[in-house]
Amino acid sequence: MLIRILEDIALMSGIGVILALILVLAQRWLSNYGEVTININGKRDLTVTGGNSLLSSLSDEQIFIPSACGGRGTCGACKCQVLEGGGPILPTEKPLLTKAEMADNVRLSCQVKVKSDIKIQIPEAIFNIRRFNSVIEEIVDYTYDIKGVTFKLNEGQSIDFKAGQYVQLETKPYEKIKQKVMRAYSISSKPEIRDRIQLIIRLVPEGVCTTWVHTQLKVGDKVDFTGAYGDFYLRDTAADILFVAGGSGSAPIKSMLEHLQEVGTNRKMTYFFGARTTKDLYLDEEMRAFEEFFDDFEYVPVLSHATEAENWQGKTGYLMPYFKDAIRDPKNTEAYLCGSPGMIAAVTKSLINDYGIAEEKIYYDSFG
Ligand SMILES: Cc1cc2nc3c(=O)[nH]c(=O)nc-3n(C[C@H](O)[C@H](O)[C@H](O)COP(=O)(O)OP(=O)(O)OC[C@H]3O[C@@H](n4cnc5c(N)ncnc54)[C@H](O)[C@@H]3O)c2cc1C
Ligand code: FES
Repeated sequence: MLIRILEDIALMSGIGVILALILVLAQRWLSNYGEVTININGKRDLTVTGGNSLLSSLSDEQIFIPSACGGRGTCGACKCQVLEGGGPILPTEKPLLTKAEMADNVRLSCQVKVKSDIKIQIPEAIFNIRRFNSVIEEIVDYTYDIKGVTFKLNEGQSIDFKAGQYVQLETKPYEKIKQKVMRAYSISSKPEIRDRIQLIIRLVPEGVCTTWVHTQLKVGDKVDFTGAYGDFYLRDTAADILFVAGGSGSAPIKSMLEHLQEVGTNRKMTYFFGARTTKDLYLDEEMRAFEEFFDDFEYVPVLSHATEAENWQGKTGYLMPYFKDAIRDPKNTEAYLCGSPGMIAAVTKSLINDYGIAEEKIYYDSFG
């Protein structure tokens, strides 16, 4: 009887092993697309191994499409036109594509798999995005959960960017995290400095990249990043400026102010910084110094959860009611917003509906 049971177990195990083997072989056979060609802008042909996403196939060839969410299909930054060979639009793409974009063959390059020859159209500016190698030069604790990190580029490298743009940082595997990830961070230093950049990084609990930055990264470590990316940059006009940021959203605003200090300006500028309590305030001294430096710049920190014990004498509550004093002519005002998606949505709505600022004059980077 016992022998019979053992024979049955051996038979079942054997069948299981054979089925698993068939599955692995079938998968290998099915996903072996061989070499395929990516034709870019009708000019350039790249030969790549098929089966990977369009985003990673291009990045292997040193062509870096913006991918702020690291290829997770949540940011929409990696859109590009796929003219032929992209297959049908996937359910993971639909929430981030408008009807007009779908009709125009726009796709999410992180979701499209390169399985056969493919023709794509990307802006020429993408070819200027580079990979940089750097060494960590300085790490500063701005608050209990925000660090300023300076990356010194390797000898001979220099970065060209507009104040407000971002880079994508590449993590290294650590502890339980076995794979590297890419995450977007706005450059907080001014574009006039080209041999190093500073980023301001807030710790997100359980966040892969921010935990790596806050618990693993040390001065002297080697880190790679790509950039610069993004349409959130300071427009060169004479319009009044409303800066609005929360948390680590002050990074690109700091870059813009340092740049304006470098080139000079007499624009009217007001910077509203939203924080929970006094523990979340940072860069206060730098902002007060800007108030001294510029002809017409005001820094307005607003606390949403100040406790009595903090004895905060400044502004409290929501940011929006305070905009009244800062907007003298809505037609001649640009707004630069940076922070959480919730803050961006609420401020944008108020600027348009309550203050009459045109939507096209509201520029933002949402950190969600
Ligand atoms: C254009 C752009 C510029 C950015 N610039 C900066 C910057 O200058 N400084 C900065 O600190 N961050 C910035 N971010 C956010 C950054 O890219 C990461 O999303 C963030 O640091 C979290 O990464 P992570 O790998 O630690 O967390 P993940 O591992 O990606 O996320 C872990 C969990 O936290 C949630 N989560 C992700 N991001 C946030 C968040 N910001 N707040 C709360 N919960 C979150 C996720 O939904 C997930 O559940 C920027 C984002 C964009 C799109
Ligand atoms: S990289 Fe974010 S949606 Fe594709």
